[in-house]
Amino acid sequence: MRKRIALAAVVALAGCMAGGATDGAAPGGTAPDGAVLFGTHCVLCHGKDGRLGLSGARDLTLSQLTREEVAVVVAGGRGRMAGYRNSLTAAELEAVVDHVMAMRTGAPGARP
Ligand code: HEC
Repeated sequence: MRKRIALAAVVALAGCMAGGATDGAAPGGTAPDGAVLFGTHCVLCHGKDGRLGLSGARDLTLSQLTREEVAVVVAGGRGRMAGYRNSLTAAELEAVVDHVMAMRTGAPGARP
């Protein structure tokens, strides 16, 4: 139940921020690059390949979360990870979530 409410909040928030972002966006501005954003905001704890796991961070390549759940964690934070809903725009959140999803090795047990 709580998860459902959190998800609704994120969706509502993303809607608001998307509205605001279009106002300020340069016409024909480039879409945010998830890999670059990840390098700026997430590498510190998760590492370039998502596997660093500093201070209890999860190995993102092995994460079992759905895209929606990843979006909730990235926007709202969890445990020792802070949320990014105030520092990234909705479009940037989307891009970085896409990047996290793309890090999945896919095959379970594909660890070297
Ligand atoms: C200060 C260190 C830190 C930074 C910076 C950080 N994280 Fe995290 N992250 C964590 C920790 C610690 C956890 C585990 C949280 C918990 O206790 O459940 C986590 C968990 C996650 C999870 C959940 C993984 C799972 O399977 O449970 C995702 C997704 C994630 N982080 C993505 C990101 C993204 C994307 C960024 C950059 C926008 C980011 N993190 C920045 C520390 C960090």
